[in-house]
Amino acid sequence: MPTPKVSKVDLIQAIQDEILALKESPLYEYRTTNGYFPVIGEGSVNATIMFVGEAPGRNEAKTGRPFCGAAGKVLDKLLEHVDLGRDSIYITNIVKDRPPENRDPTPREIEVYGPFLDRQIEIIQPRVIVVLGRYAMGYIMKKFDLELQLEPISKAHGKAYATKASYGDLDIVTLYHPCIAVYNPNNLANLKKDIEILKKYEK
Ligand code: URA
Repeated sequence: MPTPKVSKVDLIQAIQDEILALKESPLYEYRTTNGYFPVIGEGSVNATIMFVGEAPGRNEAKTGRPFCGAAGKVLDKLLEHVDLGRDSIYITNIVKDRPPENRDPTPREIEVYGPFLDRQIEIIQPRVIVVLGRYAMGYIMKKFDLELQLEPISKAHGKAYATKASYGDLDIVTLYHPCIAVYNPNNLANLKKDIEILKKYEK
């Protein structure tokens, strides 16, 4: 008898179940004692464009939804600028649980959660991965053999790097993290200019 095909949604659900029970994570206790949720990802599992941020903040950990706080409002403005709806893309983070006080993720946290992001990429098989900020940029560019082309985000922002994934062609698009426009609204114009590079891809 042929084995039944497991759907993409089921495969993502399995990731969620594993992360919920991930006691070896350095962020597990912080999540459970605060009643927070892990933030797995949201959007279309058939998306051609996938966005990867850093880690959930407080609002995200309270709701389990990525980019639903102040940085998310900026992201929504950027998506609207290039006519992308949240339901046509997939949004996730490298680290799936909130680091305390929104500090930067540690190398250990990236090591623990990175393999879950790797699995999400294999499931969704995006044509484009948009990395938001230097942590996502570093992780994804190293993973896809672009380490030698790594530059500071001040140089890399707004660029697309062509590479290959296991399933075919993949472009990595680098953007500043949207939080830069939370701290300084004048940065929104530059973010908008950078995201216009997505217009050349099919949705
Ligand atoms: N910042 C991120 O990197 N990810 C979120 O989900 C929210 C804020």
